[in-house]
Amino acid sequence: MKEILSANQIHDGVRQLADQVKAIYGDQPLTIVAILTGSLVLLADLIRHLEMPLRVALIQATRYRTPDEPDGNPDAHVALLPKLKGRDVLVIDDIFDTGHTLVEMLAQILEYEPASLRSAVLMRKNGRSEVPIQPDIVMFEIPDEFVVGYGLDYEDRFRNLPFVAALEPEDIAAE
Ligand code: IMP
Ligand code: MG
Repeated sequence: MKEILSANQIHDGVRQLADQVKAIYGDQPLTIVAILTGSLVLLADLIRHLEMPLRVALIQATRYRTPDEPDGNPDAHVALLPKLKGRDVLVIDDIFDTGHTLVEMLAQILEYEPASLRSAVLMRKNGRSEVPIQPDIVMFEIPDEFVVGYGLDYEDRFRNLPFVAALEPEDIAAE
C-alpha cells in the first residue's frame, strides 16, 4: 500500500474542516447528515471539534454496480434521519469521486425542505467529476487512485486504517 494521507495530516485536515464549519455556522444549531458507510470515521472525529448545538443524521447510499452498469445511479436509503425541515444541514462524505453520490443525496435531502444545505468532503479525486456541482468544503485533493482507510473500504475491508492509502495490485492479489 502506498500512503496518500498520514494519520497526522488527516488529524490536522479534520480540525481545519471543523474551523471552516464554525466559520460558516457560528453558534447556530446545525444538523450533520453523514453518508454511510464511508464517512463514519470522519463523522466521529469531526463532531468532537464542534461546539454548536448539533444533531447527527445518517443516510445510506447504495450504488448498484453490475457488470452491465458499473456506474449505476446511487440510491439513498434513510438510515436515521431526524427532522430536517427548516434546519441548517451539512452533508458530509469521505470522498468526492464522480460526484453522483453527493448529487443524489443532496436531491433527496432537499425534499425535506432544509433552511440551508451545504456539503463537505475529506477528499476529492482529481479530474473525475462528472457533475455540475462541487462540495462547499474539500480538505484534500488526491490523485485518481483507488484509496482505502479512514472509513473507505475495498470490499468492506480496510475501513479501520488510521491513514489513507492507495491499493496496489499486490494488495488486491493478497486478499
Ligand atoms: P462518487 O459517486 O463517484 O462521487 O463516489 C463516491 C462514493 O464512492 C464515496 O462515498 C465512496 O464511498 C466511494 N468511493 C469513491 N472512490 C473511492 C475509493 O477510491 N475508495 C473507496 N471508496 C470510494
Ligand atoms: Mg461512500
